Amino acid sequence: MSGGRLVVVSNRLPLGENPSGGLVVALEDALKTSGGLWIGFSGEAAQVASDHLVFHDGASFGRASFDLTQADFDSYYLGFSNSVLWPMCHGRADLSHILPEYLEGYRRVNARIADLMLPHLRPDDRIWVQDYQLFPLAAELRKRGVTGTIGHFLHIPFPGPADCAALPNPAELFEWLSHYDLLGFQAQRDLSNLSESARQLMDVEPLGHDRMRLGGRLVRLGVFPVGIDTAAFMQEARDAPDEDRMRTLTGAQMMIGVDRLDYSKGIPQRFRAFQILLENHPDMIERIAFLQIAPPTREAVAAYRDIREETEHLAGRINGEYATINWTPIRFIHRSLPRRILAGLYRQAHIGLVTPLADGMNLVAKEYVAAQNVTNPGVLILSRFAGAADTMQEALVINPHDPWELAEAMAIAMRMGANERRRRHAALLRDVVEHDVGWWSATYLDALEQAAAERGQVVDV
Ligand code: ADP
Ligand code: G6P
Repeated sequence: MSGGRLVVVSNRLPLGENPSGGLVVALEDALKTSGGLWIGFSGEAAQVASDHLVFHDGASFGRASFDLTQADFDSYYLGFSNSVLWPMCHGRADLSHILPEYLEGYRRVNARIADLMLPHLRPDDRIWVQDYQLFPLAAELRKRGVTGTIGHFLHIPFPGPADCAALPNPAELFEWLSHYDLLGFQAQRDLSNLSESARQLMDVEPLGHDRMRLGGRLVRLGVFPVGIDTAAFMQEARDAPDEDRMRTLTGAQMMIGVDRLDYSKGIPQRFRAFQILLENHPDMIERIAFLQIAPPTREAVAAYRDIREETEHLAGRINGEYATINWTPIRFIHRSLPRRILAGLYRQAHIGLVTPLADGMNLVAKEYVAAQNVTNPGVLILSRFAGAADTMQEALVINPHDPWELAEAMAIAMRMGANERRRRHAALLRDVVEHDVGWWSATYLDALEQAAAERGQVVDV
């Protein structure tokens, strides 16, 4: 990217244990060559909010963190971000919990981040804001006189009109968005939802397929499906512990699920489908073992505690009913595992189960494909509601709400011959290799560059 420095802002700053691994790799080059800066939350709650960013060394680009008071964390992160926006964006308005102080905290924290950034910004910076926690940031920066290029990328789905209307003050969302030069989405579905929501709620008509006039400003729109660091993940899987040894350890064919323990991931539906599989196909007993790795997340939010209880209860019930002396149908691990171990587990799993009820992209689907042994690959079962399904049609694409359909897909996957598995996997791998995270960031940053070049011009539409 030519021009100024790249400044990335995300809620989570990549410090330590590689929390947003792929993104960091994707952005590292652009950050490094432009002398760029990444700004994000330190992960620490402070007694008193500090009035400056803290700079960290140890990376090839600048990293600067801000802290949050416990009250800010509760209202901005647990509250508005994850009890209001997250459920609305994932079609679960019924699980939202709206309190006025959440919206206030969300506005306040975004305003504070803008204050903290301001002394470090240069006029020709290209600012790239990540995700739903920071929607108001461009508006706050504009208020403080920042006139340079600012883009946003939304990693989760954009809500349709019904879910937008369930927000406490829907017009404010569009006001926040209007201050960006480019809005990037995971899938066409999200861009269409934005257009339709703006039309129904704000009486705004889109200008063609990739522009919209919001609050008197021209905003560009685009679809940029995020990928993984495919080459590195393939290598990681090849270097993983020896497959035959792992298989004798499990005794049966393995089916794997890897997700944060989030209600959007469809984990109970998966368990019910597995139970139907065992019921309808008793020959599968002792032949298939389901490993679900799901670290708890955002546990201070009641809906997350509930999903944990529900899944533990279901797994316990199914295990109690179907286990034999030699075999446990479901193993449920509530921890994060190192990527190296995860890559090895994907590689030896005969089935990768990715069944969200709603998901921006779902990177696990891509990791599972990248990790397979190309001569004897496993089968990906993929929800049609993951953004990944747009390009990964050679998976067994299913409706995760229908446990009968999902159980049948499991049976088909168990019986699928090597030729068909190889054919499907080759097509999937081509997509995951071609559209990796480097491709994603380069494509987005090109579009942002173009948006910068067009700024201030009168554009005929
Ligand atoms: P989301 O962003 O909603 O959590 P994604 O599937 O897009 O869902 O991304 C999840 C990322 O977190 C993947 O890179 C996945 O490997 C990683 N991850 C999920 N669960 C675990 C776990 N138990 N241990 C290690 N990494 C995990
Ligand atoms: C999704 C969101 C990210 C978020 C991640 C983990 O991928 O799009 O913005 O960082 O989940 O969630 P957490 O709340 O732990 O950051």
